[in-house]
Amino acid sequence: MQSDAVEAALNKQINEELYSAYLYLAMSARAERLGLPGFGHWFKSQYHEELGHADRFYSYILERDGDVSLDAIARPEIGDNGETALGLFETSLAHEQYISDSIFNLKDLARKESDHATDVFLEWFVREQIEEEASVRTVVDQLKLVQGQPNGLFMIDRELAARPAANVITSGLGVARD
Ligand SMILES: [Fe+2]
Ligand SMILES: [Fe+2]
Repeated sequence: MQSDAVEAALNKQINEELYSAYLYLAMSARAERLGLPGFGHWFKSQYHEELGHADRFYSYILERDGDVSLDAIARPEIGDNGETALGLFETSLAHEQYISDSIFNLKDLARKESDHATDVFLEWFVREQIEEEASVRTVVDQLKLVQGQPNGLFMIDRELAARPAANVITSGLGVARD
Protein backbone atom coordinates (compact mmCIF):
# COMPACT_ATOMS: atom_id res chain seq x y z
CA MET A 1 0.00 0.00 0.00
CA GLN A 2 1.20 3.48 -0.79
CA SER A 3 0.62 6.46 1.48
CA ASP A 4 -2.34 8.75 0.82
CA ALA A 5 0.06 11.52 -0.20
CA VAL A 6 1.81 9.30 -2.77
CA GLU A 7 -1.49 7.95 -4.08
CA ALA A 8 -2.86 11.49 -4.51
CA ALA A 9 0.31 12.56 -6.34
CA LEU A 10 0.18 9.50 -8.64
CA ASN A 11 -3.45 10.29 -9.46
CA LYS A 12 -2.52 13.90 -10.17
CA GLN A 13 0.15 12.62 -12.56
CA ILE A 14 -2.47 10.63 -14.50
CA ASN A 15 -4.19 13.96 -15.04
CA GLU A 16 -0.92 15.66 -16.07
CA GLU A 17 -0.24 12.93 -18.64
CA LEU A 18 -3.77 13.10 -20.02
CA TYR A 19 -3.44 16.89 -20.24
CA SER A 20 -0.14 16.35 -22.10
CA ALA A 21 -1.94 14.05 -24.53
CA TYR A 22 -4.68 16.63 -25.01
CA LEU A 23 -2.12 19.39 -25.57
CA TYR A 24 -0.31 17.33 -28.24
CA LEU A 25 -3.61 16.49 -29.92
CA ALA A 26 -4.38 20.23 -30.14
CA MET A 27 -0.88 20.84 -31.51
CA SER A 28 -1.35 18.10 -34.09
CA ALA A 29 -4.49 19.79 -35.36
CA ARG A 30 -2.71 23.18 -35.49
CA ALA A 31 0.21 21.70 -37.44
CA GLU A 32 -2.15 20.11 -39.97
CA ARG A 33 -3.82 23.51 -40.43
CA LEU A 34 -0.42 25.11 -41.01
CA GLY A 35 0.14 22.69 -43.92
CA LEU A 36 2.75 20.63 -42.06
CA PRO A 37 1.46 17.03 -42.00
CA GLY A 38 4.80 15.64 -40.79
CA PHE A 39 4.59 17.87 -37.73
CA GLY A 40 0.94 16.83 -37.36
CA HIS A 41 1.97 13.18 -37.42
CA TRP A 42 4.75 13.75 -34.88
CA PHE A 43 2.42 15.50 -32.44
CA LYS A 44 -0.23 12.82 -32.95
CA SER A 45 2.33 10.11 -32.12
CA GLN A 46 3.24 12.11 -29.04
CA TYR A 47 -0.45 12.21 -28.09
CA HIS A 48 -0.51 8.40 -28.17
CA GLU A 49 2.67 8.21 -26.09
CA GLU A 50 1.20 10.45 -23.43
CA LEU A 51 -1.92 8.27 -23.25
CA GLY A 52 0.47 5.37 -22.66
CA HIS A 53 2.12 7.32 -19.82
CA ALA A 54 -1.24 7.96 -18.16
CA ASP A 55 -1.98 4.26 -18.53
CA ARG A 56 1.27 3.32 -16.76
CA PHE A 57 0.31 5.41 -13.72
CA TYR A 58 -3.23 4.03 -13.81
CA SER A 59 -2.03 0.41 -13.87
CA TYR A 60 0.60 1.05 -11.22
CA ILE A 61 -1.88 2.54 -8.73
CA LEU A 62 -4.10 -0.54 -9.11
CA GLU A 63 -1.13 -2.90 -8.83
CA ARG A 64 -0.28 -1.29 -5.52
CA ASP A 65 -3.83 -1.86 -4.28
CA GLY A 66 -4.68 1.82 -4.55
CA ASP A 67 -7.68 3.80 -5.79
CA VAL A 68 -7.65 5.48 -9.16
CA SER A 69 -9.35 8.86 -9.00
CA LEU A 70 -9.90 10.66 -12.32
CA ASP A 71 -10.32 14.41 -12.48
CA ALA A 72 -11.40 16.87 -15.20
CA ILE A 73 -8.81 17.53 -17.92
CA ALA A 74 -8.10 21.21 -18.55
CA ARG A 75 -8.51 22.85 -21.94
CA PRO A 76 -5.20 22.72 -23.84
CA GLU A 77 -3.59 26.16 -24.05
CA ILE A 78 -1.45 26.94 -27.08
CA GLY A 79 -2.42 30.56 -27.76
CA ASP A 80 -0.31 32.54 -30.22
CA ASN A 81 2.32 29.78 -30.18
CA GLY A 82 0.03 27.81 -32.51
CA GLU A 83 0.82 30.20 -35.36
CA THR A 84 4.24 28.77 -36.22
CA ALA A 85 6.04 25.43 -36.13
CA LEU A 86 8.69 26.96 -33.84
CA GLY A 87 6.00 28.27 -31.48
CA LEU A 88 4.48 24.80 -31.25
CA PHE A 89 7.79 23.13 -30.45
CA GLU A 90 8.77 25.83 -27.94
CA THR A 91 5.45 25.21 -26.18
CA SER A 92 6.21 21.51 -26.26
CA LEU A 93 9.69 21.99 -24.74
CA ALA A 94 8.37 24.21 -21.93
CA HIS A 95 5.67 21.65 -21.21
CA GLU A 96 8.09 18.71 -21.11
CA GLN A 97 10.33 20.65 -18.70
CA TYR A 98 7.28 21.24 -16.51
CA ILE A 99 6.44 17.51 -16.62
CA SER A 100 10.03 16.58 -15.74
CA ASP A 101 9.76 18.79 -12.66
CA SER A 102 6.52 17.12 -11.64
CA ILE A 103 8.14 13.67 -12.00
CA PHE A 104 11.11 14.83 -9.89
CA ASN A 105 8.74 16.19 -7.22
CA LEU A 106 6.87 12.90 -7.22
CA LYS A 107 10.15 11.05 -6.77
CA ASP A 108 11.13 13.33 -3.89
CA LEU A 109 7.80 12.58 -2.23
CA ALA A 110 8.19 8.80 -2.70
CA ARG A 111 11.62 8.99 -1.06
CA LYS A 112 10.34 11.15 1.78
CA GLU A 113 7.63 8.53 2.42
CA SER A 114 10.15 5.65 2.11
CA ASP A 115 8.03 4.29 -0.76
CA HIS A 116 10.72 2.22 -2.52
CA ALA A 117 8.31 0.65 -5.01
CA THR A 118 7.15 4.03 -6.32
CA ASP A 119 10.71 5.32 -6.33
CA VAL A 120 11.72 2.44 -8.63
CA PHE A 121 8.57 2.75 -10.76
CA LEU A 122 9.42 6.41 -11.44
CA GLU A 123 12.91 5.61 -12.76
CA TRP A 124 11.43 4.81 -16.17
CA PHE A 125 9.78 8.23 -16.27
CA VAL A 126 12.98 10.05 -15.31
CA ARG A 127 14.73 8.43 -18.29
CA GLU A 128 11.74 9.04 -20.57
CA GLN A 129 11.72 12.75 -19.71
CA ILE A 130 15.43 13.07 -20.55
CA GLU A 131 14.67 11.57 -23.98
CA GLU A 132 11.57 13.65 -24.57
CA GLU A 133 13.25 16.93 -23.67
CA ALA A 134 16.24 16.08 -25.86
CA SER A 135 14.21 15.13 -28.92
CA VAL A 136 12.00 18.22 -28.64
CA ARG A 137 15.03 20.48 -28.07
CA THR A 138 16.65 19.12 -31.25
CA VAL A 139 13.63 20.14 -33.31
CA VAL A 140 13.53 23.59 -31.63
CA ASP A 141 17.21 24.06 -32.56
CA GLN A 142 16.62 22.93 -36.16
CA LEU A 143 13.65 25.27 -36.51
CA LYS A 144 15.74 28.17 -35.24
CA LEU A 145 18.42 27.31 -37.80
CA VAL A 146 16.03 27.38 -40.77
CA GLN A 147 14.38 30.61 -39.53
CA GLY A 148 10.99 29.80 -41.03
CA GLN A 149 12.31 29.33 -44.58
CA PRO A 150 9.95 27.03 -46.54
CA ASN A 151 12.67 24.69 -47.85
CA GLY A 152 14.01 24.05 -44.37
CA LEU A 153 10.54 23.67 -42.90
CA PHE A 154 9.53 21.11 -45.52
CA MET A 155 12.71 19.13 -44.89
CA ILE A 156 12.02 19.00 -41.15
CA ASP A 157 8.40 18.15 -41.91
CA ARG A 158 9.50 15.14 -43.97
CA GLU A 159 11.84 14.03 -41.22
CA LEU A 160 9.11 14.24 -38.58
CA ALA A 161 6.73 12.33 -40.86
CA ALA A 162 9.13 9.36 -40.65
CA ARG A 163 8.65 8.91 -36.89
CA PRO A 164 7.26 5.43 -36.29
CA ALA A 165 3.72 5.51 -34.92
CA ALA A 166 3.70 5.05 -31.14
CA ASN A 167 2.06 2.08 -29.52
CA VAL A 168 -1.42 3.40 -29.01
CA ILE A 169 -2.03 2.25 -25.46
CA THR A 170 -0.04 -0.21 -23.44
CA SER A 171 -1.71 -2.55 -21.03
CA GLY A 172 -0.84 -4.95 -18.25
CA LEU A 173 1.53 -4.44 -15.36
CA GLY A 174 3.08 -1.04 -14.72
CA VAL A 175 6.53 -2.03 -13.47
CA ALA A 176 7.55 -4.86 -15.80
CA ARG A 177 6.76 -3.08 -19.05
CA ASP A 178 9.33 -1.26 -21.11
FE1 LIG B 1 4.38 11.97 -20.43
FE1 LIG C 1 5.88 13.95 -22.68
